Amino acid sequence: MAESRCLVIGAASGIGRATAARLRASGAAVTGADLRSATWPGGPGTSLAMDVTDPASVAAAVSAAAQEMGGLDAVVNCAGILGPVAPAAATSVEDFERIMKINLTGAFIVSQAVLPGMAEAGYGRLLHISSTAGKEGVVNMPAYSASKAGILGLVKSLAKEFALSGVTVNALAPGNVVTPLFAEVPEEQQAAQAAKIPMGRFGTPAEAAALIEFIVSPAASYTTGSVFDLSGGRATY
Ligand SMILES: NC(=O)c1ccc[n+]([C@@H]2O[C@H](COP(=O)([O-])OP(=O)(O)OC[C@H]3O[C@@H](n4cnc5c(N)ncnc54)[C@H](O)[C@@H]3O)[C@@H](O)[C@H]2O)c1
Repeated sequence: MAESRCLVIGAASGIGRATAARLRASGAAVTGADLRSATWPGGPGTSLAMDVTDPASVAAAVSAAAQEMGGLDAVVNCAGILGPVAPAAATSVEDFERIMKINLTGAFIVSQAVLPGMAEAGYGRLLHISSTAGKEGVVNMPAYSASKAGILGLVKSLAKEFALSGVTVNALAPGNVVTPLFAEVPEEQQAAQAAKIPMGRFGTPAEAAALIEFIVSPAASYTTGSVFDLSGGRATY
């Protein structure tokens, strides 16, 4: 990934943090952005405070990142929340809307902010993080599952819109990756999900970062509007 200029959103934790570190190690220029800037890992590159639900904040961070690195080749959007794990009847409309706003509307706002510039440059890679929950629907996660299913429709639509521009738009659908977000899943539910994984273990942020590095690399030139599974065999379609 030498020569690539990458913005990683949600870079303070979990999959985003591991991705920023891996892309840096590969020789890319990396700018990280997150709601929380305090825990951003050190090293070269800037840490930007950004809220994906706020178009002005996203536009400012994208512009600062492009200025800092002299352009933007790849954007990996890892910002997301799980929200309360509860049956639909116990999920408030406010919680439903908050989860949708961060996970899905945020992905749209990021897309709007970065795609025109990439298309103008004639090259770009945009990756949003969906989830196996968006494909199969996970019990007691109605809003989270809906928001992650929404990302699949979003990337498929945007991929077609930008297909002739040199820009790819894809989704990664992790199953269970050991991060602070996954730690919020109640233990019984973690056990139920573990039982569905043919490889018999959860994934690591480093394994997610390895696949992400490929998806946003110049080598991944003929795949757009696609969903890359990362689930230890749990996802079968
Ligand atoms: N860990 C898993 O098992 C798993 C499985 C499937 C999908 N995912 C998805 O992967 C992505 C990364 O998750 P993770 O497990 O690394 O979680 P994480 O909690 O470790 O990291 C998520 C990061 O997003 C940031 N963030 C939250 N709201 C934001 C906002 N409004 N603006 C900017 N940044 C914001 C947080 O501050 C945090 O640093 C999420 O979209 C998550 O839904 C995770």
